[in-house]
Amino acid sequence: MKAIQFDAPGGPDVLYIGEYEAPQPGPGQVLVHIAATALNRADLIQRRGKYPVPAGQSPLLGLEMAGTVIETGTDVTDFEIGDNVCALMNGGGYAQLAVVDQEMLLRLPGNLSFTKAAAIPEVFLTAYQALHFIADLQKGEQVLIHAGGSGVGTAAIQLCRLAGATPIVTASGGKHERLKEIGAAHCIDYKKENFAERVKEITDGQGVNVLLDFVGGSYFAQNLDALALEGRMVCLGFLGGFNVAALNLAPILRKRLRIEGTTLRARSQAYKYELTAGFRRDCWPAFVDRKLRAVVDTIYDWEEVDDAHRYMESNANLGKIVLTIGE
Ligand SMILES: NC(=O)c1ccc[n+]([C@@H]2O[C@H](COP(=O)([O-])OP(=O)(O)OC[C@H]3O[C@@H](n4cnc5c(N)ncnc54)[C@H](OP(=O)(O)O)[C@@H]3O)[C@@H](O)[C@H]2O)c1
Repeated sequence: MKAIQFDAPGGPDVLYIGEYEAPQPGPGQVLVHIAATALNRADLIQRRGKYPVPAGQSPLLGLEMAGTVIETGTDVTDFEIGDNVCALMNGGGYAQLAVVDQEMLLRLPGNLSFTKAAAIPEVFLTAYQALHFIADLQKGEQVLIHAGGSGVGTAAIQLCRLAGATPIVTASGGKHERLKEIGAAHCIDYKKENFAERVKEITDGQGVNVLLDFVGGSYFAQNLDALALEGRMVCLGFLGGFNVAALNLAPILRKRLRIEGTTLRARSQAYKYELTAGFRRDCWPAFVDRKLRAVVDTIYDWEEVDDAHRYMESNANLGKIVLTIGE
């Protein structure tokens, strides 16, 4: 098969399409002919050599894909050749073929194209995990989502609405109109406004019950300020750095805050099966009746993968950047 590879870490120019050994399905696994994959920030970090691949997982880039089952291993009970599916992966999505455990597969409804389906697994499962597995989001709660225009942010906005919660987002100003169409109740321009002060105005001084943070160090103090009594903050990324300068920890006790970090790729397969099963039960039907939608910003042919990586690095995307996989 062919796959996108790189021989040494570096910029987008190091990526090339070349021959790679095709995977073989084992018991309980299927072989998928991939039609489309999608970019994630982790791909950029891995390409730069700063994201060590967890032991035993594919060194190829690509944390999600959509395609057609072309072979089934022994003990595969729920899927057959010809089924169209998408899945979260541990790597290996930037390729023509991939082997996936049947527990990870989501069957595509007829109204979902491969390019849209490929844009769903990583960001929706990340947002579902953060909001429901970790923060225990309740109906009627208010949620602050940083980087609201990111792939994960656009998924989180929709999952808040599905749960009857109110999403408030931070994003650069040019993205606000589209984010309101996707479901954001309030948009804060983090480049011009103090988001903690704006959150207090919006919530009548209460603060938000749940906060999804991708920015890290530079936001930490303001995040504590923006949280309500018994607020829960989930730390998912460090787009703004790892370090915090002088910080007053008192709000953590005074407001009885819960702060929890998470990863997805490094979790056990058993955890990912459980997460996927919850998502299949709670959210997948909403893609059929279009209460949830993949938010696709741009579709690139895989021969243009370097341009796709440059585009993500420019922070211009709102939602997902998809790669169609060629023959
Ligand atoms: N822990 C986990 O399990 C997990 C899983 C998946 C993703 N993630 C993390 O989730 C984040 C989003 O990933 P993604 O693939 O959805 O990203 P993405 O689509 O590339 O979007 C990232 C957006 O974040 C905003 N941004 C970038 N740098 C920023 C900064 N310093 N301060 C504030 N906003 C900034 C930009 O939008 P603006 O125009 O609004 O600035 C940018 O478009 C990443 O940090 C990623 O590592 C974590």
